Amino acid sequence: MAGFLDGKIAMITGAGSGIGRAAALVFAKHGATVALYDINGESVQETVRMVTQAGGSASGAAADVSIEDQVAGMVADVVQRYGRLDAAFNNAGVGHNLKHTADMTLDDWKNPLGITLLGTWMCIKHQIPEMLKTGGGSIVNTASNAGKAAVPTLAAYGATKAGVINISKTVAVEYAERGIRCNAVCPGVIETPPITAFRATGVDFGKEMQIPMVRTGRPEEVAELAAWLASPLTSYVTGQAISVDGGQSSCQ
Ligand SMILES: NC(=O)c1ccc[n+]([C@@H]2O[C@H](COP(=O)([O-])OP(=O)(O)OC[C@H]3O[C@@H](n4cnc5c(N)ncnc54)[C@H](O)[C@@H]3O)[C@@H](O)[C@H]2O)c1
Repeated sequence: MAGFLDGKIAMITGAGSGIGRAAALVFAKHGATVALYDINGESVQETVRMVTQAGGSASGAAADVSIEDQVAGMVADVVQRYGRLDAAFNNAGVGHNLKHTADMTLDDWKNPLGITLLGTWMCIKHQIPEMLKTGGGSIVNTASNAGKAAVPTLAAYGATKAGVINISKTVAVEYAERGIRCNAVCPGVIETPPITAFRATGVDFGKEMQIPMVRTGRPEEVAELAAWLASPLTSYVTGQAISVDGGQSSCQ
């Protein structure tokens, strides 16, 4: 049976863990060849092994999305290996220590701004010219429900994710006529290592975080949405910020 990403070349950042690793497996399951990047070289190679073992096609390398030379290098690496870039899942992003806004320092903003916001923009900046060479492509960025509504103690995280949503809409409008679509996925509470660590503090996500499905999400549930948005099945969908959150954002 044909996969909806058959023949597509897709790059994924933050592919060494959590949602990015799940996306590597899901994109490959649907037929894409995946080029995987993460600041942690060992973990991204482990993801490459997992994709290959599952019968998919993958390559991987270490790269830091907050350093422009390395971002340019990632995109050049994809094109050198595979000849083109059809889809990108710009997923690398970071949180910060939980603090009320007046207690935050400039240092608390450094990683969210440098990695989540500027990192996502730099990926898009270098992906667009390659996609234009082949008539277009699909860019999917990982934002968050925290970019749509207030999450107390997460001002910098929320502000940078709101920025990712806005960049996604802006790129969608700027490049729609030239064949590039751009959308954002907005996860709610997804069971990845940072959330698992938070769970260890005793929080009951289902009840305390008002998740109608009364459970956290699985990384694959975000990955399936990202793969669908990356694929031709969503050829008329652009500029959207779609939540994948068990209904949580409908309560906010
Ligand atoms: N898990 C959730 O509940 C949740 C909710 C909303 C949004 N998100 C977003 O989903 C994305 C993935 O998060 P996750 O939960 O899978 O976390 P994770 O920590 O499991 O994975 C993040 C990956 O990004 C990599 N990374 C960090 N900084 C990087 C950099 N500078 N360059 C390249 N790679 C880098 C890490 O090494 C790690 O492998 C993030 O953008 C996060 O903000 C997660």
